[in-house]
Amino acid sequence: MIANDDVVDIWTIVVAAGSGSRFGGPKQFFDLRGERVVDRSVRIAAAHSAGVVVVLSAEVLEETGPSRLTPGSSTRVVVVVGSDTRSGSVREGLAAVPAEATVILVHDGARPLATDEVYERVLLAVAAGADAVVPVVPVTDTIRRRSGGVVDRADLVAIQTPQGFRAEALRAAHAAADDATDDATLVEAGGGRVVLVDGDSDNMKITDPSDLEIARLLLARRGETP
Ligand code: CTP
Ligand code: MG
Repeated sequence: MIANDDVVDIWTIVVAAGSGSRFGGPKQFFDLRGERVVDRSVRIAAAHSAGVVVVLSAEVLEETGPSRLTPGSSTRVVVVVGSDTRSGSVREGLAAVPAEATVILVHDGARPLATDEVYERVLLAVAAGADAVVPVVPVTDTIRRRSGGVVDRADLVAIQTPQGFRAEALRAAHAAADDATDDATLVEAGGGRVVLVDGDSDNMKITDPSDLEIARLLLARRGETP
């Protein structure tokens, strides 16, 4: 276990400024066994970070303020306003990460079931010299191209967060970036070394309303009380 004391230079950006169009509303503020989805995401991130930057939409910040985003530890929490795209929101978060951070994680606020083990695998791979680390899980569906032909599943993985970065590599990638690509792909395009580690099949992203029900069931199965 990487203890909080050892992580003074690790900061995590939790992006939670999306509108949840597929869900039908901002899913990150729905209840998950007594805790909002985003609060759980921030709480787990805080256990592995010296500080967390939470990226929220301007509307949410006006309405509710950041009051509940306090993980109850010595971890610093900074709240900033996001942007129209996920990568724009990451960039706003990045601007609020202190210069002394040497490792930066980026995590989806809508992914509340990230485990400590996934965080640790990502952080260890960054410490071992990767520029970017991506947790992945095997693809279980058979994938077919619309144009015809089945894609070889053995070569495919599904990408999760938290993704981890050497801070300089992430800053450089975003400084040179156009908007559409994900962070690790940006680092890779700049010649950085991207390492894949095992994610966790429970570390799902809440996308549709049924995902929230599944997340509640997964937590109940773990016997966790909020
Ligand atoms: N996100 C963000 N800023 C955006 C878009 C997305 O901070 N402009 C965040 C979301 O809040 C979420 C994460 O990025 O925590 C992953 O995005 P996604 O699951 O696509 O969430 P939404 O964009 O809100 O959902 P949808 O695509 O269905 O509208
Ligand atoms: Mg989206």
